[in-house]
Amino acid sequence: MDFTLLTKPAARVTGREKVTGTARYAGDHAPSGHLFGRLLLASVAKGRVTGIDVAEAEAVPGVRAVFTHETIGDYKPLKSFYEGGLGGTGFWPMRGTEIRHAGQPVAYVVADTLESAREAAARVRVSCAEEKATAYFDDADGEPNLVERHTLETGDAEAALREAAHLVEADYETPTQHHNPMELFWTTVEPRGDELVVHKPSQAVTTIKFALAEQLGMSPERVHVVSPLVGGAFGSKATAPYYTVLTALAARKVGRPVKLMVGRDQMYTVATFRPATRQRVRLGADADGKLVGYAHDEIAETSRWDVVVNPGTATTTRMYACPAIKARELTQGLDVPTPGFMRAPNEVPPMFALESAMDELAWKLGRDPVEFRLANDTQDDPITGVPFSSRSLKECFQRGAEAFGWADRTPEPGSMATEDELVGWGCATACYPTMMAPASARLRIGPSGDAEVELAAHDVGTGATTVMAMIAGERLGLPVGRVSARLGRSEFPVSPIAGGSVTTASAGSAVWKAAGEARDAIAEAVTAEGGPLAGADPGALSFADGQVTGGGKSVPLAEAVGATRTGRIEVTADWAHPDIDPNKIPALYKGSFGVMGPVNDRHAMYAFGAEFVEVRINPRTKSIRVPRVVGAFAAGNILNEKAGRSQLTGGMVWGVGSALHEMTETDRSRARWVNRNIAEYLVPVNADIPSVEAVIVPETDDYVNPLGAKGIGEIGIVGTAAAIANAVWHATGVRVRRTPIRMEDLLRAEA
Ligand code: MOS
Repeated sequence: MDFTLLTKPAARVTGREKVTGTARYAGDHAPSGHLFGRLLLASVAKGRVTGIDVAEAEAVPGVRAVFTHETIGDYKPLKSFYEGGLGGTGFWPMRGTEIRHAGQPVAYVVADTLESAREAAARVRVSCAEEKATAYFDDADGEPNLVERHTLETGDAEAALREAAHLVEADYETPTQHHNPMELFWTTVEPRGDELVVHKPSQAVTTIKFALAEQLGMSPERVHVVSPLVGGAFGSKATAPYYTVLTALAARKVGRPVKLMVGRDQMYTVATFRPATRQRVRLGADADGKLVGYAHDEIAETSRWDVVVNPGTATTTRMYACPAIKARELTQGLDVPTPGFMRAPNEVPPMFALESAMDELAWKLGRDPVEFRLANDTQDDPITGVPFSSRSLKECFQRGAEAFGWADRTPEPGSMATEDELVGWGCATACYPTMMAPASARLRIGPSGDAEVELAAHDVGTGATTVMAMIAGERLGLPVGRVSARLGRSEFPVSPIAGGSVTTASAGSAVWKAAGEARDAIAEAVTAEGGPLAGADPGALSFADGQVTGGGKSVPLAEAVGATRTGRIEVTADWAHPDIDPNKIPALYKGSFGVMGPVNDRHAMYAFGAEFVEVRINPRTKSIRVPRVVGAFAAGNILNEKAGRSQLTGGMVWGVGSALHEMTETDRSRARWVNRNIAEYLVPVNADIPSVEAVIVPETDDYVNPLGAKGIGEIGIVGTAAAIANAVWHATGVRVRRTPIRMEDLLRAEA
């Protein structure tokens, strides 16, 4: 398809307000007369509240109320997302005395100012009966729990691995990691008569609406959720959290709007996190270097009460041709909050393991890591046998290798050292499933000929607002400046959760469809008898540069719209992929995440990438630097080349963090996380990221959706950690099989 706006670079329509500080986020919302909320979090990791003395807290000037489990009021617990519910957890605090993890809310203070609320929370006296708790993976009591529905199997992997000419068998570890979005977890709830208006940064306004309605026994129509621009989502704001309903209860009790900030000091236990994993990979090849067997067990940390599985082996098993595969997902319950999503939640831990093992196997076979991967490439899903709707892994490796200069690599570890530094080059495959959810969007064109698009999708910093305007503009022949897109309100037509990289493909397809219907209506009106383009073929009109042209004549879009019966256009379109299970559609309209993909009986749908990194290591201190990252990605049409590149680049930056920096440290004796601030929880900063380059590999996919677009929000992070581990090995000869990779791992290997 030839596009005018789409696939070209476009600046975000929200860019100027963001960089000049005038953009309004949910935390900027301050309804008149609002009060401030503050959670008090438990300091023990397990046990019971035996008493709460609020007298001193209530005496703090400005305090309006100090709620405990006895006074905040009852609410209905929801099932967790993982059991088909809307909740981020299956355990809802302040409904009783039980404490299940450190940092669980036990009281809720409401005061005139944030300062009073904080002061009062510090003066609540809580007594607890404490029990022994375990929050660290390797201290876990009890065996991991096999989650059978996620087992994937083809052929006889055990037999194949026994007979393999070359075998890699290794254990990998990835840590607990915590979100640190720039925008914190604000929630403002305003009671308005028998309605509630909720302002919060969210990836799921429809979910919040239905969750709150169910928890409080309200009709969903009376709950209004607004999530304007979001300053960091990535899975941390994807489900219905308990602090929203607690704030709603508090606001109702005091009869005033209540604004809660879950600050940096509290988000480590109140928001969600990426669970730690322990993994075993066995990978076998025959004498010619063809994979013959692959077994992968992934054990992930979860809470005691929710069996959360981010089943990443569903992705790793799709990477390479292999006749015998067995992948299993297991969970290990700990006294921690329920984990959740973090950018490519399924893929990041197990792709680190598989792609490290592939590198190990390539070396054993004496093969170049790129060439070895391509020798095992496939156009059919190894598990089900269906063809990929499109798969450009080969082109990604070719284009990426070229951009990186991979041909100059010498294979021997340590062989590229300079006088001052150990230098290593590594690569890895990146991959992310293409999923789509049903979606709807409304489009209006008024007498001016300008268009307005409304939908309850979310702009989580990805540029979704801009791309929705581009999609409508493309079909109507309008520049982006003449289309205003409005997202993030629950009263707009339902669109899916901004998760699983689905927004552009799903909500964008609904906008495309709505604009197509608008175009058809206009075409019919202008070509009718007496219309400005009477006699022209309605199917052959062109919509470009704000003009409608056909039959040798041209009219401005405004005039064309004026020729319709009502003089204006308003259409609402529902879009669903023709192969989606129709039973999933009603669930979407109640806030669930009814996605299609990535594999159905016709196709496997995935985006692919190839990531290349250079590491430079100080030979004495072993400090590791990553001066260069190059990632080449093929994900169908990249609808906004500029924002798309930014997504891919941002993913790789986070990948550097996941490989070298990020880890939540546990005080094993007290079952608490300790580095709970951005000073001690390390993330990459400018000095860690000298050069990151995203190469966009053209790819056509007519099956996935009318836009030919696969999601790109997450794929960038997927291959980076393994590419870095592989480069570290290439620089030093030391294979580090856990992240984050630290200088002590290299020093220890030398000692
Ligand atoms: Mo993303 S981790 O699916 O919000």
